[in-house]
Amino acid sequence: MPEALSKDESEVTFEALTPHIGSLAHGIDVSKPVPPAVMTRLRRELADRSVIVLRDQSLTPEQLIAVSRDFGPLEKHVLSNFCLPDHPEIFVVSNIIEDGRHIGAHGGSKQYHSDLSYLPEPSMGSLFYCLECPEDGGETAFASMFAAFDALPEDRKKWLAERDGVHDYVWNYERAHLQNRAPLTEEQKAKTPPVLHPSVRTHPENGRPALFISEVFTRSFEGEDEAESQALIHELMEFAAQPAFVYAHKWRSGDLIIWDNRSAVHKAMPFDEAKSRRRMHRTTITGDRPYFNG
Ligand code: OGA
Ligand code: MN
Repeated sequence: MPEALSKDESEVTFEALTPHIGSLAHGIDVSKPVPPAVMTRLRRELADRSVIVLRDQSLTPEQLIAVSRDFGPLEKHVLSNFCLPDHPEIFVVSNIIEDGRHIGAHGGSKQYHSDLSYLPEPSMGSLFYCLECPEDGGETAFASMFAAFDALPEDRKKWLAERDGVHDYVWNYERAHLQNRAPLTEEQKAKTPPVLHPSVRTHPENGRPALFISEVFTRSFEGEDEAESQALIHELMEFAAQPAFVYAHKWRSGDLIIWDNRSAVHKAMPFDEAKSRRRMHRTTITGDRPYFNG
């Protein structure tokens, strides 16, 4: 592998992975401090392309935390049992069982969502680093919510622009995770009451509107019937996930992806969990309250 060119900003280039979403970065080694000029370019690229892929990175937990902090302060996840003991900023996503217990969150995130959208101030973005991955499957798919919103019919855009979504962590946990995770404690539940967010949000860095709902956490549109809301959310997310708006990343160990939770949703693709190991480290950058100025 050639020495990563890092430092010098002029060596940094981005290559589009699809027309709407995803850029492959060249010439950046994030195991070393990232120069401010390179950070500026990474931030702009993230705002415009929603997903940045960096290959061949070699990152200790400390190094992953350091580059993540360049994007902003980090979250500590509600499910502290899935964080690295010495590094609560790192959330482990894995199917691996050691000493009879799952070392990370497993069997979730198979549907499109935006991380922590159930918080009043959802995450602005996440960094996801691959330590081990299956040969087949186990991709992460990303859908552009800029492209999805832009392509909606005008009457739909208008309707959505006037609606808040109800994002509800406990509601989702109790319907999706009780088979393979411990029930939430009262304390965990109290930390995550339902919240309202605009269904369309303005990206604070480039002003573009993005659809901001998901089948995972959006329970309903505020003031609308829950079953009707669910049907519409399903329809909108099918629309958002059309192949033209999606980039699905085939992982190799050493890949690092930075994604923008304000303009993209993502999901894990299935793989043979009995045969293959998948072990990923995620950091989650804090964000601001979503708004829409249409
Ligand atoms: C996540 C997530 C998807 C994946 O960690 O937030 O949704 O591919 N992961 O594991
Ligand atoms: Mn996620």
